[in-house]
Amino acid sequence: MDVQTQMKELVAKAAAARVESGMILGLGSGSTAAIVIEQLGRRWRAGDLQDIKGVPTSFQAAQLASEYGIPLITLNEIDHIDLAIDGADEVDPAKNLIKGGGACHTREKLVDSRAERFLVVVDVGKLSDVLGSNFALPVEVVPGAYRQVMDQLREMGGEPHLRMAVRKAGPVVTDEGNLVVDAKFEAITEPAKMEMQINNIPGVLENGLFVGLADEVLVGEIDGDRASVRRL
Ligand code: 5RP
Repeated sequence: MDVQTQMKELVAKAAAARVESGMILGLGSGSTAAIVIEQLGRRWRAGDLQDIKGVPTSFQAAQLASEYGIPLITLNEIDHIDLAIDGADEVDPAKNLIKGGGACHTREKLVDSRAERFLVVVDVGKLSDVLGSNFALPVEVVPGAYRQVMDQLREMGGEPHLRMAVRKAGPVVTDEGNLVVDAKFEAITEPAKMEMQINNIPGVLENGLFVGLADEVLVGEIDGDRASVRRL
């Protein structure tokens, strides 16, 4: 197993161990969150977890949870989520995040922001001093507006690109039926302001800045042969 996968496994297992019977859970998206769901699925099948319900943040999360028989529920059927566990693409020292590498950030933000506790699982490579240093900001846009949204993002200092699909001709289409524009900014120094400004552009559904939402971040690290988990 490569080093990055080892770190992901370790944080995912540590996060899944926090889950208790009776909880309503936000089920995250991406490769690290998928390992969390697999771990929960194993505990569920073994009878170690009872009476849990999952609110999926994506088609991926719903499909994986269903494979293990984890009961699913929608946001409109619940009045709270006890714990959401999700991955991230970039994390700053204040625990602000960039998400949306899997084009799921709209539903991820709905679910993660509804949780009483939002736990983020990442490997050490996701940490940065200033958001935007390493990852382009995903912006979900309605298909008819992608050109004008890209123009606006350019005016804000970003370098926007329409995200293209792999093994499908044309763009990535989100679970909500929209497109994703990835906008590279040199540095996002005021993430709360930028989150609001971008969401104010007509045609934007949601952007991948998650500001002030994460309660705790579990970071997988490797020192020599030894893998460990650090808490932020
Ligand atoms: C999907 C996400 C993912 O959580 C994020 O891309 C991290 O994924 P991975 O754990 O595969 O690195 O935001 O929209």
